[in-house]
Amino acid sequence: MKCFRPHGVNGDTMELTVSANENINGTLILPLFEGSENVPEKCQNGMSSSMKNQINRVLSSGDFKAKKKTTMTLYGGEDGKAILVGLGNSDDCTIHDYRNAGATVTAAIKKSHGNEMTVRFDGAGISHMAAFAEGMMLRDYSYDEYKKNDDEEETEVSIRINCSEKEEEELVGQVNTLKGICKGVHLSRDLGNCPPNDMYPEVFADMARDWAKDFDNVDVTIINYDEAIKAGMGGLVAAGKGSSRKPCMVIFEMNKDVKGKCPVLVGKGITFDTGGISLKPGANMDEMKYDMGGSATVFGTMEALAQTGYEGKVVGITCMAENMPAANATRPGDVIKGLSGKTIEILNTDAEGRLVLSDGLWKAAEYNPEYIIDFATLTGACVVALGHEATGLWSNNDEFRTRIHEAGNAVGELAWPMPLLPAFEKEMTDSKIADTRNLGAGRWGGANTAAAFLKQFVPNYDYDKDGEQIMWAHMDIAGTFWGAKSNLMVKNGATGVHVRTIYHLIANS
Ligand code: BES
Ligand code: ZN
Ligand code: ZN
Repeated sequence: MKCFRPHGVNGDTMELTVSANENINGTLILPLFEGSENVPEKCQNGMSSSMKNQINRVLSSGDFKAKKKTTMTLYGGEDGKAILVGLGNSDDCTIHDYRNAGATVTAAIKKSHGNEMTVRFDGAGISHMAAFAEGMMLRDYSYDEYKKNDDEEETEVSIRINCSEKEEEELVGQVNTLKGICKGVHLSRDLGNCPPNDMYPEVFADMARDWAKDFDNVDVTIINYDEAIKAGMGGLVAAGKGSSRKPCMVIFEMNKDVKGKCPVLVGKGITFDTGGISLKPGANMDEMKYDMGGSATVFGTMEALAQTGYEGKVVGITCMAENMPAANATRPGDVIKGLSGKTIEILNTDAEGRLVLSDGLWKAAEYNPEYIIDFATLTGACVVALGHEATGLWSNNDEFRTRIHEAGNAVGELAWPMPLLPAFEKEMTDSKIADTRNLGAGRWGGANTAAAFLKQFVPNYDYDKDGEQIMWAHMDIAGTFWGAKSNLMVKNGATGVHVRTIYHLIANS
């Protein structure tokens, strides 16, 4: 199981601390606003005059304008080095600009900057400093598990955020929480980046079980292939039966003894999507290793919550399968029945994500949900609609959809409202021989018809057939879980998107 990286050693090289100690140790990192002509008064403590003069010169000459997402390194000989980083205009500088600036610095750090650094702010608020630290930590990730490493051990870089004594305790607390959340994001990326020969349903399940051993308050239950067949999980079985790596469902329960309703997160976990008998074209098929991004989001969110000591109840359900063509694979034309008892006419075996989710969503109602959110790299159509800039967001409750949209905005992860129209539901339920069909009538609006299909499998509270449908949202992360070039928080590969959104939604509201 080569891809598993235990806590603390996953792809990062940075050790970040906070202190009010006024020394400048190692390289100085100095975030600056546009228009700064001198080193800000507050940042001058302990700075050699030659360093100060040098910085003042590049600022007053306009050689460094402190525009957003820019850096400049100054090499000051014996007086050390400095990395200047732009925050843009002070009037409209937001917490997102601080996070971006932190990530920009991490991207700019080279071996020549040494292994010790001190960050000094000019009167930033505590949460702004924390956001800068968050950006630094999020961007501090690379997936190099499969590269021969000729270098000796990776050097650890220690970064110290310098603040006032008054701010220290609060900032330490915020940064520690963000460290835990970043671990969740990095775990999600690890899962997504792991090649599909080493990441298949059983491996994911083993990882979840091993991971849970570290936490007294998390239980992981695995429903294996035989059990899934017995339980009637026809959707999960149909998507995965053509592979020698058999499907399974992995259920995470955090703080299960806490009474009352809880969030239930459901993830699409297709560890490789060939399309099945409706085989995909060859170009870029390798990218379909990311088709388990939804399950990575769920696992990563569990890690973030566990690392930060979250005390509420949360359940995660990940639906793991590999979609392969084979003599025993599901065919277009097959009609299957899943947990819900509704039948599905399979018209295209490449629309497999919705099959596994139909069982995951139905299962969710067993856990007394306050709400259900599913995450899935579900449709190419969503990428057509929103590019790599925003996740598609659907819900059966407008207020809930707005809450998720706002949670995303708060952490800089865009989730864009999309329509769940009755016409799309009609389209997905007008099969001639079954209750539902897994393909729309035409190709238009494919992300919306997929969402409308999922809605057919969201149960009512307590499975009460005369009751109210559980509050539910669907997030199509096909474009945002990877390939997001404008996402400064990540260099390449899996992004780990929405671990932070959902952490924020659950823990801060
Ligand atoms: N995993 C794909 C969706 C996808 C496509 C994710 C591109 C990321 C990038 C999904 O299983 C799929 O193949 N969907 C089909 C649905 C169609 C057959 C209705 C699609 O999007 O073409
Ligand atoms: Zn597919
Ligand atoms: Zn897929």
